[in-house]
Parts: sequence; structure tokens; C-alpha cells
Amino acid sequence: MIEIARFDANAAELHLAALTELLIDAVDSGASVGFVPPLAPADAETYWRGVVGAVRDGARVLLAAVEDGRVQGSVQLALELRANGDHRAEVMKLFVHRRARKRGLARALITEAERAAHALGRTLLTMDTRQGGDAERLCVALGWRKFGELPRYARSADGTLHTTCFYSKELGDGLR
Ligand SMILES: CC(C)(COP(=O)(O)OP(=O)(O)OC[C@H]1O[C@@H](n2cnc3c(N)ncnc32)[C@H](O)[C@@H]1OP(=O)(O)O)[C@@H](O)C(=O)NCCC(=O)NCCS
Repeated sequence: MIEIARFDANAAELHLAALTELLIDAVDSGASVGFVPPLAPADAETYWRGVVGAVRDGARVLLAAVEDGRVQGSVQLALELRANGDHRAEVMKLFVHRRARKRGLARALITEAERAAHALGRTLLTMDTRQGGDAERLCVALGWRKFGELPRYARSADGTLHTTCFYSKELGDGLR
């Protein structure tokens, strides 16, 4: 039984160990999510404590894919706080643990992130992702539009610089 749950700051703190392990697994798998391996557990936990603070401040929405009580994946919505962008949010840090991949969890997480964004009045979403990765295929499959790409944007685990693609999606009334 898989549920996409919205974690408030207390729930995120409660699941800190699982989230830390999820991030380390994503980085170990070669994901381009801001870190390079090896990622020390203390650094991963510090990252999540920052997320907990942002959730508490209302700047971030954290969704988790929970299967039989176990966190299998997560995604975040960074809510633009500046007044001219309060219709906008960035979908970021999409991870699914390697043990749970290829079962549609990422699709479910992005779909729920779109719904949550729309419910908050955020009708323009952006996301960036590594060119050619599973996440990019998913963006395309879910109707996101590529508005740019930048070669040599981010460093891979093996040290090479790779292209990052920038996507956006406007949310219509269909999600209401
Ligand atoms: C990218 C990532 C989140 C995808 O997670 P996922 O849960 O495996 O994604 P999904 O299962 O929703 O979709 C991935 C593929 O599995 C396929 N799939 C879904 N359910 C399936 C099933 N039951 N059987 C077989 N394949 C299935 C999908 O069709 C999709 O295939 P495609 O990419 O060839 O189109 C995951 O690989 C990951 O965490 N990577 C590391 C972090 C990362 O790179 N994040 C992106 C940063 S933006």
C-alpha cells in the first residue's frame, strides 16, 4: 500500500533517519541532486534539518511516498516568496530509493506535487534535471515543456560536467 503523504515539519523530523538514508541512496546512485558521493550521514541530516526549517517557515512543501510505513521516495516544492512570483514554485529533489524504482512512485510524487501546488495557487512550476535521465523522461511524459538547457551545468559523481535541462509546466483548471 503506497501513500503520497504531505509531511509537516514534525512528520519530517520523525522520519529524519529514513530521509537521510534516502538522500544518501540517491547520491550513491549517481543522482544529480546537488551533492557528490560519498555523502556523509551527518551532512545529509544537516541538509534535511534545513528542509524541516523551510517547511516550518511555509517556504517548502515536502511530499513522501510511504509504503507500509516505510519512506520510499520524496519530492519538494519550493514556494517562491517574492511578491511578483507568488504564483510560482519549483519542483525539486525528486528521489525514489533504488529498492522501489520503476514502479511509478516518481510519477505519483510529481503528480501529487502538481496537485499540491495548484491547491496553493501556484500555477507555474519549474524543474531542472539532468539531460537524458529517468526524471527528464518523466517530465516529458507528464507534459512539461523544456525551455532551455545548459551544457556543463552540474558535476556528475565521476567528475564530468553534464547538461542540465530546464522544464516548466502551467497548471490549468483540470487539476482543481
Ligand atoms: C528519477 C527517479 C526519481 C525515477 O523514479 P521511479 O520511481 O523509478 O520513476 P517511475 O517508476 O515513476 O518512472 C520511471 C520509469 O519506470 C517505468 N515504470 C513505472 N512503473 C513501472 C512498472 N510497474 N514496471 C516497469 N516499469 C515501470 C516508467 O514507465 C518509467 O519508464 P521510462 O523512464 O522508461 O519512461 C529515480 O530514478 C531517482 O530517484 N533517481 C535519482 C534521483 C534523481 O536523479 N532525481 C531527479 C532529480 S530532478
